[in-house]
Amino acid sequence: MPAGRRVVALTFDDGPNGRDTAAVLDVLAEESVHATFFVVGKAVERDPELLRRMVNEGHALGNHTWSHAHLNIRTREGIEREVSRTEAAIERACGAQTKLVRPPFGARSFGVLEALRRLGLECVLWSVPLAREWDRPGAETIARRLLERTVDGSILALHDGDRGERAERGAVAAATRLVIDGLRARGLRCVTVPEMLAFREAP
Ligand code: NI
Repeated sequence: MPAGRRVVALTFDDGPNGRDTAAVLDVLAEESVHATFFVVGKAVERDPELLRRMVNEGHALGNHTWSHAHLNIRTREGIEREVSRTEAAIERACGAQTKLVRPPFGARSFGVLEALRRLGLECVLWSVPLAREWDRPGAETIARRLLERTVDGSILALHDGDRGERAERGAVAAATRLVIDGLRARGLRCVTVPEMLAFREAP
């Protein structure tokens, strides 16, 4: 990442998750920010209209496996099934394709990376420690945890769902607004992961 771009990628994992994901999309639309959603295949099948909304509103998509699987303990065929089934669900829901994958739990053994490479997918993790939304810390705490470790070029991950299951993530939309405000105050602009990767490849 060339220094001085002053960009950050905002990403959301583990959804789509009904109204809590819709609330995040509302905030992003109000703030005119584009994010990247790493979606779980079985949740895409449950909430396909949210995928259509993400694409229509200019967000990028990534693959977070079918069942939020720990890929390190899957066979190569198992990894391919988790990823390919999700690709198909995304395409069915919104017609979009993605070349990005975020392995759940950040699992990236040699076997995982090799299997993903073989599928032509790029592995994208996060660079700022997670805000641990599953402990239900509240919007201010989520935003503070992320902002205090954010630098130019950071990839931030928030959780609008819980491993593809329905979950209460009502604080995440409010946290998203606080994070965007905090980034703006520091002169950092939000971009999607594909935009961030394009910067990386630019001379
Ligand atoms: Ni996850």
